[in-house]
Amino acid sequence: MRVITLAGSPRFPSRSTALLSVCQRALEARGVEVIPWNIHNFQPEDLLYARFDSPALTALKADLALAEGLIVATPIYKASFSGALKTLLDLLPERALEHKVVLPLASGGSVAHMLAVDYALKPVLNALKAQEVLHGVFASDTQITHYDRQPELDALLSERIDEALETFWQALHRRHQPYAQAV
Ligand SMILES: Cc1cc2nc3c(=O)[nH]c(=O)nc-3n(C[C@H](O)[C@H](O)[C@H](O)COP(=O)(O)O)c2cc1C
Repeated sequence: MRVITLAGSPRFPSRSTALLSVCQRALEARGVEVIPWNIHNFQPEDLLYARFDSPALTALKADLALAEGLIVATPIYKASFSGALKTLLDLLPERALEHKVVLPLASGGSVAHMLAVDYALKPVLNALKAQEVLHGVFASDTQITHYDRQPELDALLSERIDEALETFWQALHRRHQPYAQAV
């Protein structure tokens, strides 16, 4: 089982990226191979000038093609997901998330914007033909500490991440496997 994590924050250290580190550890404990990707893996010019043939983009597409699932994390910027993440998602092929289970995560300063994942990010993930986009998890800034070292989540957030990962795990196992019937 292979899963990609994609960190959409332009900043480092990053709270939303810390959520992915926590997920990575939990999934690896279940024997999942996790391949972490980050917006910093890309040259800013390649993203801004929409270079569809950049080496990093080619590598991400290859990794995605072999993965069953994706966990994507973003900070909330101006009531939406980060523009940096959008510049990357814009360069993926139309069916990049076909047959994949996707779990979206976000961190933000205000719970007033906790629905941004639903109204802003999920439509883009669906446009990339994700097979199943799960309920996202929104984290308030105060719920994530020590995100520059060993991130710590408060008890409520930790519980919600655990539940989301369990749902993700189950969805990965029941996911439609396009060539399975041929056996
Ligand atoms: C440019 C900018 C815009 C932001 N806009 C919002 C916003 O509209 N709503 C919100 O809840 N938080 C907003 N925030 C706060 C961030 O979403 C929050 O601190 C987040 O956890 C940062 O994640 P990161 O550390 O992964 O970058 C904004 C932060 C920045 C820097």
